[in-house]
Amino acid sequence: MWDYTNKVMDHFRNPRNVGTIENPDGVGDVGSLACGDALRLMFKLDNEKKKITDAKFQTFGCASAIASSSALTEMIKGMTLEEAGNVTNQNIADYLGGLPDQKMHCSVMGKEALEVAIENYHTGKCSKVILEGEVICKCFGVTRKEIEHVIQENDLHEVDDVMNYCKAGGGCGGCKPDIAEIITEVRAEMTPATEAPQRKMTIVEKVRLIEETIEREIRPALQKDGGDLDFVDLAGNKVVVSFRGMCAQCKSAQFTMKDVVEAKLREFVSKDIIVEEDKA
Ligand code: FES
Repeated sequence: MWDYTNKVMDHFRNPRNVGTIENPDGVGDVGSLACGDALRLMFKLDNEKKKITDAKFQTFGCASAIASSSALTEMIKGMTLEEAGNVTNQNIADYLGGLPDQKMHCSVMGKEALEVAIENYHTGKCSKVILEGEVICKCFGVTRKEIEHVIQENDLHEVDDVMNYCKAGGGCGGCKPDIAEIITEVRAEMTPATEAPQRKMTIVEKVRLIEETIEREIRPALQKDGGDLDFVDLAGNKVVVSFRGMCAQCKSAQFTMKDVVEAKLREFVSKDIIVEEDKA
């Protein structure tokens, strides 16, 4: 026996809004009898087509499917379509005081029926994009988009979580490797790679890195042209250098070489380095 809340039991034993609506504004069918759960949701809007005045359902399923459908119809009455479109499966579960993990798919079915019904109102179609496309779980007819949707909306990490939320993987289990792959792909997109924070260099480390960079990247090129430079001082991000030889004699070289040195130090030491020439 599942550990249902009193509210779930109340909505299961006394379901609200069971039945159909004459000339509904939106109809959403999800699930299938072959998969053990099916839900038809209908709603009617007021004369200005702004708010849901009535909502009814017919369902075939377990206690939590009936309770979730009943709760959903109560929740959306009085809402605008925009507000109803923002109802999540977690809202439905919360309204009922929670659902066992293994029964969360009932709240997802309610949310999907609502999405389909709203789409039906806007487009006249009864199939939502999320329910179309490549079928990953053949036992329960669950599509890739549906799996991606429950992972994103409910922040799922494990194959068993996906099974609880949309039944995929709960039959022969043959689709579980595919579900695991989809979880990895979706989570990689959900968690943007963040750069590891860089530890601040000590002054000694910075001086050493400047000296190494000058030795390796700058001095050989200057010496080839008969010049050289000395690393004179470091104050914050300011690196003071002194040019020697050909570099010191060439008027334009001061400007040109300063830029070259600065570019190299910014590349290998720190982006905020400013190079100044020692005038002393
Ligand atoms: S194909 Fe998904 S459980 Fe069988």
